[in-house]
Amino acid sequence: SLPQRVKIVEVGPRDGLQNEKEALSADVKIELVNRLARAGMPNVEAASFVSPKWVPQMATSREVMAGIERLPGTIYSALTPNMQGFEAALAAKADEVVIFGSASEAFSQKNINCSIAESIARFAPVAQAAKASGLRLRGSISTAFGCPYQGEVPLDAVADVVSRMRELGCDEIDIADTIGVATARQTQAVMLRAAQEFPLAQLSGHFHDTYGQALANIYAALEVGVAIFHSSVSGLGGCPYAKGATGNVATEDVLYMLNGLGIETGIDLDQVVDAGQFIAQALGRKGASRAGNALLAK
Ligand code: HMG
Ligand code: MG
Repeated sequence: SLPQRVKIVEVGPRDGLQNEKEALSADVKIELVNRLARAGMPNVEAASFVSPKWVPQMATSREVMAGIERLPGTIYSALTPNMQGFEAALAAKADEVVIFGSASEAFSQKNINCSIAESIARFAPVAQAAKASGLRLRGSISTAFGCPYQGEVPLDAVADVVSRMRELGCDEIDIADTIGVATARQTQAVMLRAAQEFPLAQLSGHFHDTYGQALANIYAALEVGVAIFHSSVSGLGGCPYAKGATGNVATEDVLYMLNGLGIETGIDLDQVVDAGQFIAQALGRKGASRAGNALLAK
């Protein structure tokens, strides 16, 4: 049987907007985060304290974190690749910091300019500092289902990074399909292998929808008991270091499916659709959520 309740981690303000060519003001991002939190999101990834030379869109992260309202039921997360990022996240009062590595050596080099082993060594002081400051710690593992530079990624490579992130004390670990190549049975195999290293209840699925497989993969992951999923309002997103990668699966589409399955999320779909329309208008284009567009047309 499928889980009765699912936690959605809304990543649009970070994973979505980090990839936009047009610079968006901090005010628009603040409004987006606030709308998502008011819709009932338990967790919004609102910021990323990375090098502005690498990801210029996230340079407004400090202002965004300073400007958002803090709802007590919402965890506001920030990406922190190193101690410099951590110090910024701490100062910005993030509730959760995210260390982000990769299951592929080639992607690790392109994304964070170091090997997997070096990344773990860099994450160790971040993890320690997060614990010491009482912050939640999440680990994200890119290219767990395939890599744009090296192709296939072995199950054991994913398992190895999962176990290292467990050793660092992660409260939650994200298994990410950076380039949206995963299919349903593969999703189950990777999730079950990861679950040999880390509690299944604290594993999440982060699916990009490049090949249109994300909803099928989420359903497949639900079947093996995964109950945390990442999604992006209006299907925003991509990855600046994964050419051709499209957005995350749209939050509206995921909610529509979960509502239909009778799985609780605590999130109001209509309010998410409104937030999606707000950001699509700010970006001057039609939203990429199928369910969102259909509901707006009703
Ligand atoms: P580096 O160049 O190796 O770092 O970059 P460095 O330590 O040698 O520092 C170089 C410069 O960067 C210095 O500045 C530092 O101060 C600065 P300079 O002296 O040249 O003026 N710097 C920073 N500035 C602000 N904040 C920081 C920071 N750290 C160093 N935290 C680094 C290494 C990791 C910093 C760089 O590669 C980087 O920022 N990468 C970010 C990549 C990124 O954000 N990718 C997208 C997010 S991950 C993702 O989308 C995948 C995910 O969604 C899951 C999935 O779908 O797969 C999570
Ligand atoms: Mg991503």
